[in-house]
Amino acid sequence: MNINVSNFRQDVSKVRLSKEAFNELLSAKNTVEAATQGRRFDEAPVDIDLRDSQVLSAELRNIRNMIDHQSHVLILDGFKVSNLANFKSLVWTFGSLLGAPMVQNHLGHKVIEVYDRGGKSIEEGARYHQTRQGAYVHNDGVSDPLPIDYLVLACGQKALLGGESILIDASAVYAELMGFPQILEELKCDFYFENRGMSQEEQLFKAPILSFSSEGIPLIRYFRVYIESAHSKAGVPLTPSQIQALDFLDTVLDQSSVQHRVLLEPGQMLISADNKFLHTRTHFIDAHTPRVEINDAQSLSDLNRYMLRMWLRNP
Ligand SMILES: [Fe+2]
Repeated sequence: MNINVSNFRQDVSKVRLSKEAFNELLSAKNTVEAATQGRRFDEAPVDIDLRDSQVLSAELRNIRNMIDHQSHVLILDGFKVSNLANFKSLVWTFGSLLGAPMVQNHLGHKVIEVYDRGGKSIEEGARYHQTRQGAYVHNDGVSDPLPIDYLVLACGQKALLGGESILIDASAVYAELMGFPQILEELKCDFYFENRGMSQEEQLFKAPILSFSSEGIPLIRYFRVYIESAHSKAGVPLTPSQIQALDFLDTVLDQSSVQHRVLLEPGQMLISADNKFLHTRTHFIDAHTPRVEINDAQSLSDLNRYMLRMWLRNP
């Protein structure tokens, strides 16, 4: 039997916290809820002494190790709860114990709700998480010069149709582009990026699309629409060779040989090293008319596609 090694890809690993660790997490969640007292759920820092939660603490270390040094991505199962308020505080507590939550928008929010608001498109200036558009392969750490160590995407509800997550390993992309050294050289040079949605004041900064960790692992920073917009705001149009490099990169990103596809089920959480894995989703159709605001008392089963996103730094 012939095995085509280049087309052989492992599935994304699925893991679960042990019952004991999950119980420790639930007890931490109760403490966090009691300390929240009428504030937005992600406003007060989580102040939990993990010395009282030895099992959870060891399992969190194991997850960090998998993301930092092994698979760089995994699915954590078992976070299915009844209503939205419970889901928010469970994900917030877990995320805050896994890493240090980063601010994700100009309002200072550390958890972002990802669902279609039914408003404007990405091309019209909306941020990706407020739309139901698919197809833009990117990583999240493009709006801030600091990388995101752990990108957490927790699924509260899936779409009626579509909304698969597509994950792309930067190492696989790099391997595909090794046959085109001039393209790789271009991607290692600086491009303009923007801090879309991160602050009232627009800021541009320069960074390469492709770089390497101290261990020699390819790192990526990419969201084409944001780069094009940043270059236009800087008044520095992309050069023909930069555009060619982006076209080569997009073409590689579109190949099934570099893509993993997963459809997150309610209660599943995707955790990845944001600068080692690009991601996107497929277009989706929801069961109900989109809403701008969702009440916390809502049952998760009544929602449209709904995800919570956290950006974490290694503690
Ligand atoms: Fe994203």
